[in-house]
Amino acid sequence: MGKRITLSVIKADVGGWVGHSSVHPALLEKARGVLSGSPLLIDFHVTHVGDDINLIMTHERGRNDGDIHQLAWDTFQACTEVARQLKLYGAGQDLLADAFSGNIRGLGPGVAEMEFEERASEPVVVFMADKTEPGAWNFPLYKIFADPFNTIGLVIDPKMHKGFLFEVHDVLHHRRVTFATPEESYDLLVFIGAPGRFCVKAVFHKETGEIVAVSSTQRLNLMAGRYVGKDDPVCIVRCQSGFPAVGEVLEPFAHPHLVSGWMRGSHSGPLMPVSQRQCTPTRFDGPPRVVALGFQLSDGKLVGPQDFFADPAFDKARETANEIANYLRRLGPFEPHRLHLEEMEYTTLPDVMKRLKDRFEDLRGR
Ligand code: 13P
Ligand code: 13P
Ligand code: MG
Ligand code: MG
Repeated sequence: MGKRITLSVIKADVGGWVGHSSVHPALLEKARGVLSGSPLLIDFHVTHVGDDINLIMTHERGRNDGDIHQLAWDTFQACTEVARQLKLYGAGQDLLADAFSGNIRGLGPGVAEMEFEERASEPVVVFMADKTEPGAWNFPLYKIFADPFNTIGLVIDPKMHKGFLFEVHDVLHHRRVTFATPEESYDLLVFIGAPGRFCVKAVFHKETGEIVAVSSTQRLNLMAGRYVGKDDPVCIVRCQSGFPAVGEVLEPFAHPHLVSGWMRGSHSGPLMPVSQRQCTPTRFDGPPRVVALGFQLSDGKLVGPQDFFADPAFDKARETANEIANYLRRLGPFEPHRLHLEEMEYTTLPDVMKRLKDRFEDLRGR
């Protein structure tokens, strides 16, 4: 029997270099320094995608462990100090509270954690995106776990043929519901086709009940009650041996789907799969992008990473994403490039409306 391992991916934007484009190396250095001094972890990997720092950590303490969350919080605090010294943009942006209070959820950083018994071989993929929101995973997770045109394993692997369970969160009303696929896939799609409100939080193997995928579903702007940046999300997927193969897990990203985020968190744009080297958004602060790092776990050690989207097999997806980006940019301030009013992260509408309210004439009865 394998060890019970917890894989925690906790991320935050605590200051951009330059603007909202990237993370200064001094912050990554600081994060590695803090984590390497901790006796709590089996292993860790610190990286960034765009302006978000990602702490990929393994331990044996389970999900929602106060000490692990405190460690992540302290790490981000230490990085914020460095960001303040360098006057980086939006230093401390995602840390909504002044002090840690037991659980990092609800305090700003994004969290995806899963606890499982490490299999004889345990390949995992960690997806990390910038300039978008948690619902961005709905489309790829559906493709990976419920679409036989993406995942041939659903058809020909006897260990996957019964399908998967999708746990969906209503981020507006803080409720959750679980759907079984393939039998309830149409019901599932009614909800997750609206990714601004319904997010796939986790996926489970139907027969064994094992956790296979988990995402971060924080909506920072809803928590803070004001614009504080998009909730650039992360997602963990376990692969192979009754779970989708690594190639099936990466396949949806060959088609750059449209996600919400991009400039000022208020635009629709293609999610571009990129290598670590290419993860700095520039054009109109974007386009939104995603990095996929692969690891083999070995008694909790993170053997990796493998930078999957560095493969030229994803060149075509990048080219398509650039074409879509070019097309959408020409719409300027018009929908559907600009998000519709309820989805925008910030807006001048109330102010402009107030100023012009006397100029509006009633049309009824004319
Ligand atoms: P597994 O059943 O070992 O996961 O093999 C599937 C595979 O790797 C095909 O690409
Ligand atoms: P981040 O959410 O990545 O900080 O980006 C915010 C923004 O406004 C980009 O234009
Ligand atoms: Mg930022
Ligand atoms: Mg970001």
